[in-house]
Amino acid sequence: MNVYEAATKRRTVRKFKQDRIQADILKKFVDAARLSPQGANLQALKYIIVTEKTLTDIIFTATSWAGYIRPTHNPQENERPVAYIVPLVDSEIKNTNYDNDAGAAIQTILLTAYEEGIASCWLGAINKEIIKNTLEIPDKYIIHSLIALGYPAESPEVVKVGEDGSIKYYKDESGVLHVPKRCLDDVLIMVK
Ligand SMILES: Cc1cc2nc3c(=O)[nH]c(=O)nc-3n(C[C@H](O)[C@H](O)[C@H](O)COP(=O)(O)O)c2cc1C
Repeated sequence: MNVYEAATKRRTVRKFKQDRIQADILKKFVDAARLSPQGANLQALKYIIVTEKTLTDIIFTATSWAGYIRPTHNPQENERPVAYIVPLVDSEIKNTNYDNDAGAAIQTILLTAYEEGIASCWLGAINKEIIKNTLEIPDKYIIHSLIALGYPAESPEVVKVGEDGSIKYYKDESGVLHVPKRCLDDVLIMVK
């Protein structure tokens, strides 16, 4: 798989097989993320990997899924993520303007995972208090967001943004998630 293929074929997945992911594979994703571009090369991003079932069960309660069609696309009991990576910002290194750094690092994780056949959902709608308390995260770390991981049990499809202009994803009659994306001509303003 080349980078273009990963960048274009990766889709957010919200239904996962219950097969465990080996710790070494998850560590590989973090290893890739640590080499992502970072403003001023400060490298304030730190990570927690969570695979223990007792912990993933609690962290699931801190998540919220597919807001446009909630609750119809919530992972069911046997579809939940089997692992999470929690991207943290070390506030002793940087405590403002870290979203770009986090974005670069997180997308690196999503793509590296995809190459390994592992699906992901980047989650911003999370209860940080539950995550902080469950994982006993020290105060100096800012929980940026959450990455849910697992082998995929659904295959969302890209569609063109419809004539009504809606970018809201939707499920078809067989339950397949369709994700509207703007076409190249709509996003490429000019080539000079
Ligand atoms: C910053 C950010 C936060 C997100 N938060 C959530 C979330 O809380 N819950 C969820 O189900 N999906 C979440 N997503 C996934 C988006 O809904 C998804 O990326 C979008 O619908 C496009 O689908 P695609 O990733 O397959 O291209 C988030 C994505 C990003 C980039």
